[in-house]
Amino acid sequence: MKVATHELRCTECGARIAGNAVNSIFRCPNCNGLYDVIYPWSSIPGEAATPVASNPPNESALRWLWKERRTSTLSIDQSGVWRFRDLFPIVDDANVVTLREGNTPLYELPRISKAVGLDWVFAKHQGMNPTGSFKDTGMTAALSVAKERGFEWVACASTGNTSAAMAAYAARAGMRSIVFIPEGKIAWGKLSQSMDYGALTIQLKTDFDGCVNVLTDLVNRFPIMLLNSVNPYRLEGQKTPAFEIVEQMEWQVPEHVIVPGGNLANGSALAKGFSEMHRLGLISRIPKISIIQAEGANPLYRSLQENGGEELIPVKANTRATAIRIGNPASWRKALRALRTTGGWCEQVTEQEIALAKAQIGAEGIGCEPASAVTLAGLKKLVAQGRITREERVVLVLTGHTLKDSNYTIDYHRGELLTAEENAEISSADQALHEALRKPPIVLDPDTDTVFRALETQMKLVHA
Ligand code: F0G
Repeated sequence: MKVATHELRCTECGARIAGNAVNSIFRCPNCNGLYDVIYPWSSIPGEAATPVASNPPNESALRWLWKERRTSTLSIDQSGVWRFRDLFPIVDDANVVTLREGNTPLYELPRISKAVGLDWVFAKHQGMNPTGSFKDTGMTAALSVAKERGFEWVACASTGNTSAAMAAYAARAGMRSIVFIPEGKIAWGKLSQSMDYGALTIQLKTDFDGCVNVLTDLVNRFPIMLLNSVNPYRLEGQKTPAFEIVEQMEWQVPEHVIVPGGNLANGSALAKGFSEMHRLGLISRIPKISIIQAEGANPLYRSLQENGGEELIPVKANTRATAIRIGNPASWRKALRALRTTGGWCEQVTEQEIALAKAQIGAEGIGCEPASAVTLAGLKKLVAQGRITREERVVLVLTGHTLKDSNYTIDYHRGELLTAEENAEISSADQALHEALRKPPIVLDPDTDTVFRALETQMKLVHA
């Protein structure tokens, strides 16, 4: 597969450059805009639709090929990202670094569907990736490009998942990685991963946004490939769950896809995936993509409320969903474009709503990390607003595994997560749900009668 088949296009001024001509911060030198990766078959936003290139990938051949590759023994085919490589020819096959990411399950959520009053709610569980988050799908793509371009070092600033993924893929490729994380503000599971995979882990006494500033200076001075989501190759991998979703739904398209919003790249990656499939005739329409932020880390929501998305209003971010504790998101304009082109919405949800939604996803036997649970909390709001109706199919993108942040889960079930003030704000209906969901561990003497009596009490509670 040939690298020459793609270009980078500035999302602000439209300037196009060759992929390998990009600067170290992945920003347009003319206007500081971020890039999209484009191909001969891409439709260019704002430009009149041109006929699809004379030799486009054929849609029925693609469907067959993508399915067929699942039975192949080649690692590149077994990857649920590279299986779709025909739609992102960015590196030579020989340079692909893969941990067999992707191919994640699409689960039905029957109890949640009933609770929110919809017929079909699904979870696309990206926490089932090799390092436990959706970041693997993008990291395999961008890291492979770094390898092909001869980089020895890669780096990222992270709230924990990007760094875990980068450290793992760099280790697989025999490359060195540097991680910048905000000290004391990421979940332990994630911190342990970057050490386990051998990254140079630097904890800075600042927040995520402060880490980004230091890293930007660093990559300007040293030959290090920046692997944050401003790197457009990340998004080429992150668009592939869109392909998987429709494949798993027998090539039907859900009406809604809901994602959490942090640095705000993922929603636009999925929108790109759906748009490209639409353009190539693989699907007949595009789902509405909605982005949900935590109330304490809501710069996009706020900006839309206060100035219609004209300017970003950065915030000092604070939420227990540490993965999305970001106040000055790099890709906010891309996210806005995804909302506008697909017709989705941006919502914000409280800490209490996140905690409840996470417990409900756990009770489905699935589980996720707190940041992923904002999708369900947001879904409830969109249903209440009449924006999503009963017969419409909804896919929640669960971005991280429940074991990423087990402290959060334990604190929740012990009743130690929320403050008294936060608890006081919960409605009585939600309070009842919390009570039914909370399962704190019971400590007992090792005596059968005692255990039996405890069990009896529990059974009475269940049947009451
Ligand atoms: N969910 C999880 C579990 C995440 O780790 C992130 C981002 C998001 C959602 C938001 O995605 O940034 O594309 O809007 N985590 C980054 C990190 C920032 O460093 O791991 P986004």
